[in-house]
Amino acid sequence: SLISSSSVKELVINSTHNSTEATSMPSVYVARNPAMAAAEIISHEEIPTIDLSLLIRRSEKTSADERAKVIQQIGEACEDWGCFMVVNHGVSEDLQRKMIEAYLDFFDMKEEEKQRYNSKSFIDSVVYNSSFDQTTNEVLYWRDTLRTTVHPTFNSPDLPQNFRLISEEFSRRTREIVKQLLIAICEGLGIEENRTEECLGLASCYQIISGNLYPPCPQPELALGLPPHSDAGLLNVLLQNNSFPGLQVMHNGNWVPVQLIPNSLFINVSDLLEIFSNGKYKSLLHRATVDKKMTRLSVATLIGSSWEGVVVAPAAELVETEPAAFRGITYKDYIRHYQTGKLNKRPLAAMRL
Ligand code: SIN
Ligand code: FE2
Repeated sequence: SLISSSSVKELVINSTHNSTEATSMPSVYVARNPAMAAAEIISHEEIPTIDLSLLIRRSEKTSADERAKVIQQIGEACEDWGCFMVVNHGVSEDLQRKMIEAYLDFFDMKEEEKQRYNSKSFIDSVVYNSSFDQTTNEVLYWRDTLRTTVHPTFNSPDLPQNFRLISEEFSRRTREIVKQLLIAICEGLGIEENRTEECLGLASCYQIISGNLYPPCPQPELALGLPPHSDAGLLNVLLQNNSFPGLQVMHNGNWVPVQLIPNSLFINVSDLLEIFSNGKYKSLLHRATVDKKMTRLSVATLIGSSWEGVVVAPAAELVETEPAAFRGITYKDYIRHYQTGKLNKRPLAAMRL
């Protein structure tokens, strides 16, 4: 058979062993995506950056004025971009590095070790898979991934050592950031803090972490690491290693590469927040590209509402003055809907009224 590997990483290793240098890839990886083939506009606009210390550290030094200003900046970024960078966010440089290394160590394990966690399900507690699928002729993507559910129940692979400890701390800290951001976003929309909890059930929020490995690709111009898509939850937090700016976001009809700013995290609006904000904040369309020489590693943590404790619907405060644009749905039912569709279609469209 043309392909005898079960992950992209293994495919790359095998092909470099068999010949001096791999110059092409199996044709199933060619992204049959017209947007990819057409000459595309890549724009180098700057994504807004928010200093979170002004929000999180509610000390005497942080005045009400300063907080109001940051809340306004976040609201503008959510409306204009659907994403922003954050700095001074409380995830230490050391923890960021350890998290990235823990994923690289995981992907370096023997294929059969990793395959213990193989599954097609979106919601199994620990899932290793590749977009690689020999059984279909669907477009495939140049990515291997490890996805774990970390809240309200924490899960982790047993190996590598330390993975559990590091991902537990990383998930706790990113969850705290997202809670602060959601409270601020709600405040900006005129929704009080206690109502934020009531509407979204953040105390039992459903949180997933995905480590994504994008190995070097012989024909990067023909492949994609991930197709254009939006995420299912409320907010997504993304950490990336220092390789190349592979993540691109759609802004005013152009693709904008997300620059690598040291110690920053990337935050994007996801589908449930578009519903909750009654369409004011747009769930970000984004994709991942690949490189001929460099390996990219990203860690994305997706935070949604509670799994089934709340029905996420346009906030009552917003639909007093405008018609509801979406119907309500639990995260559980939304994920079910999301995973039955194709990743490169927009599942949110079906929720519109
Ligand atoms: C994602 O869309 O979940 C990850 C994108 C990336 O790797 O930057
Ligand atoms: Fe995504």
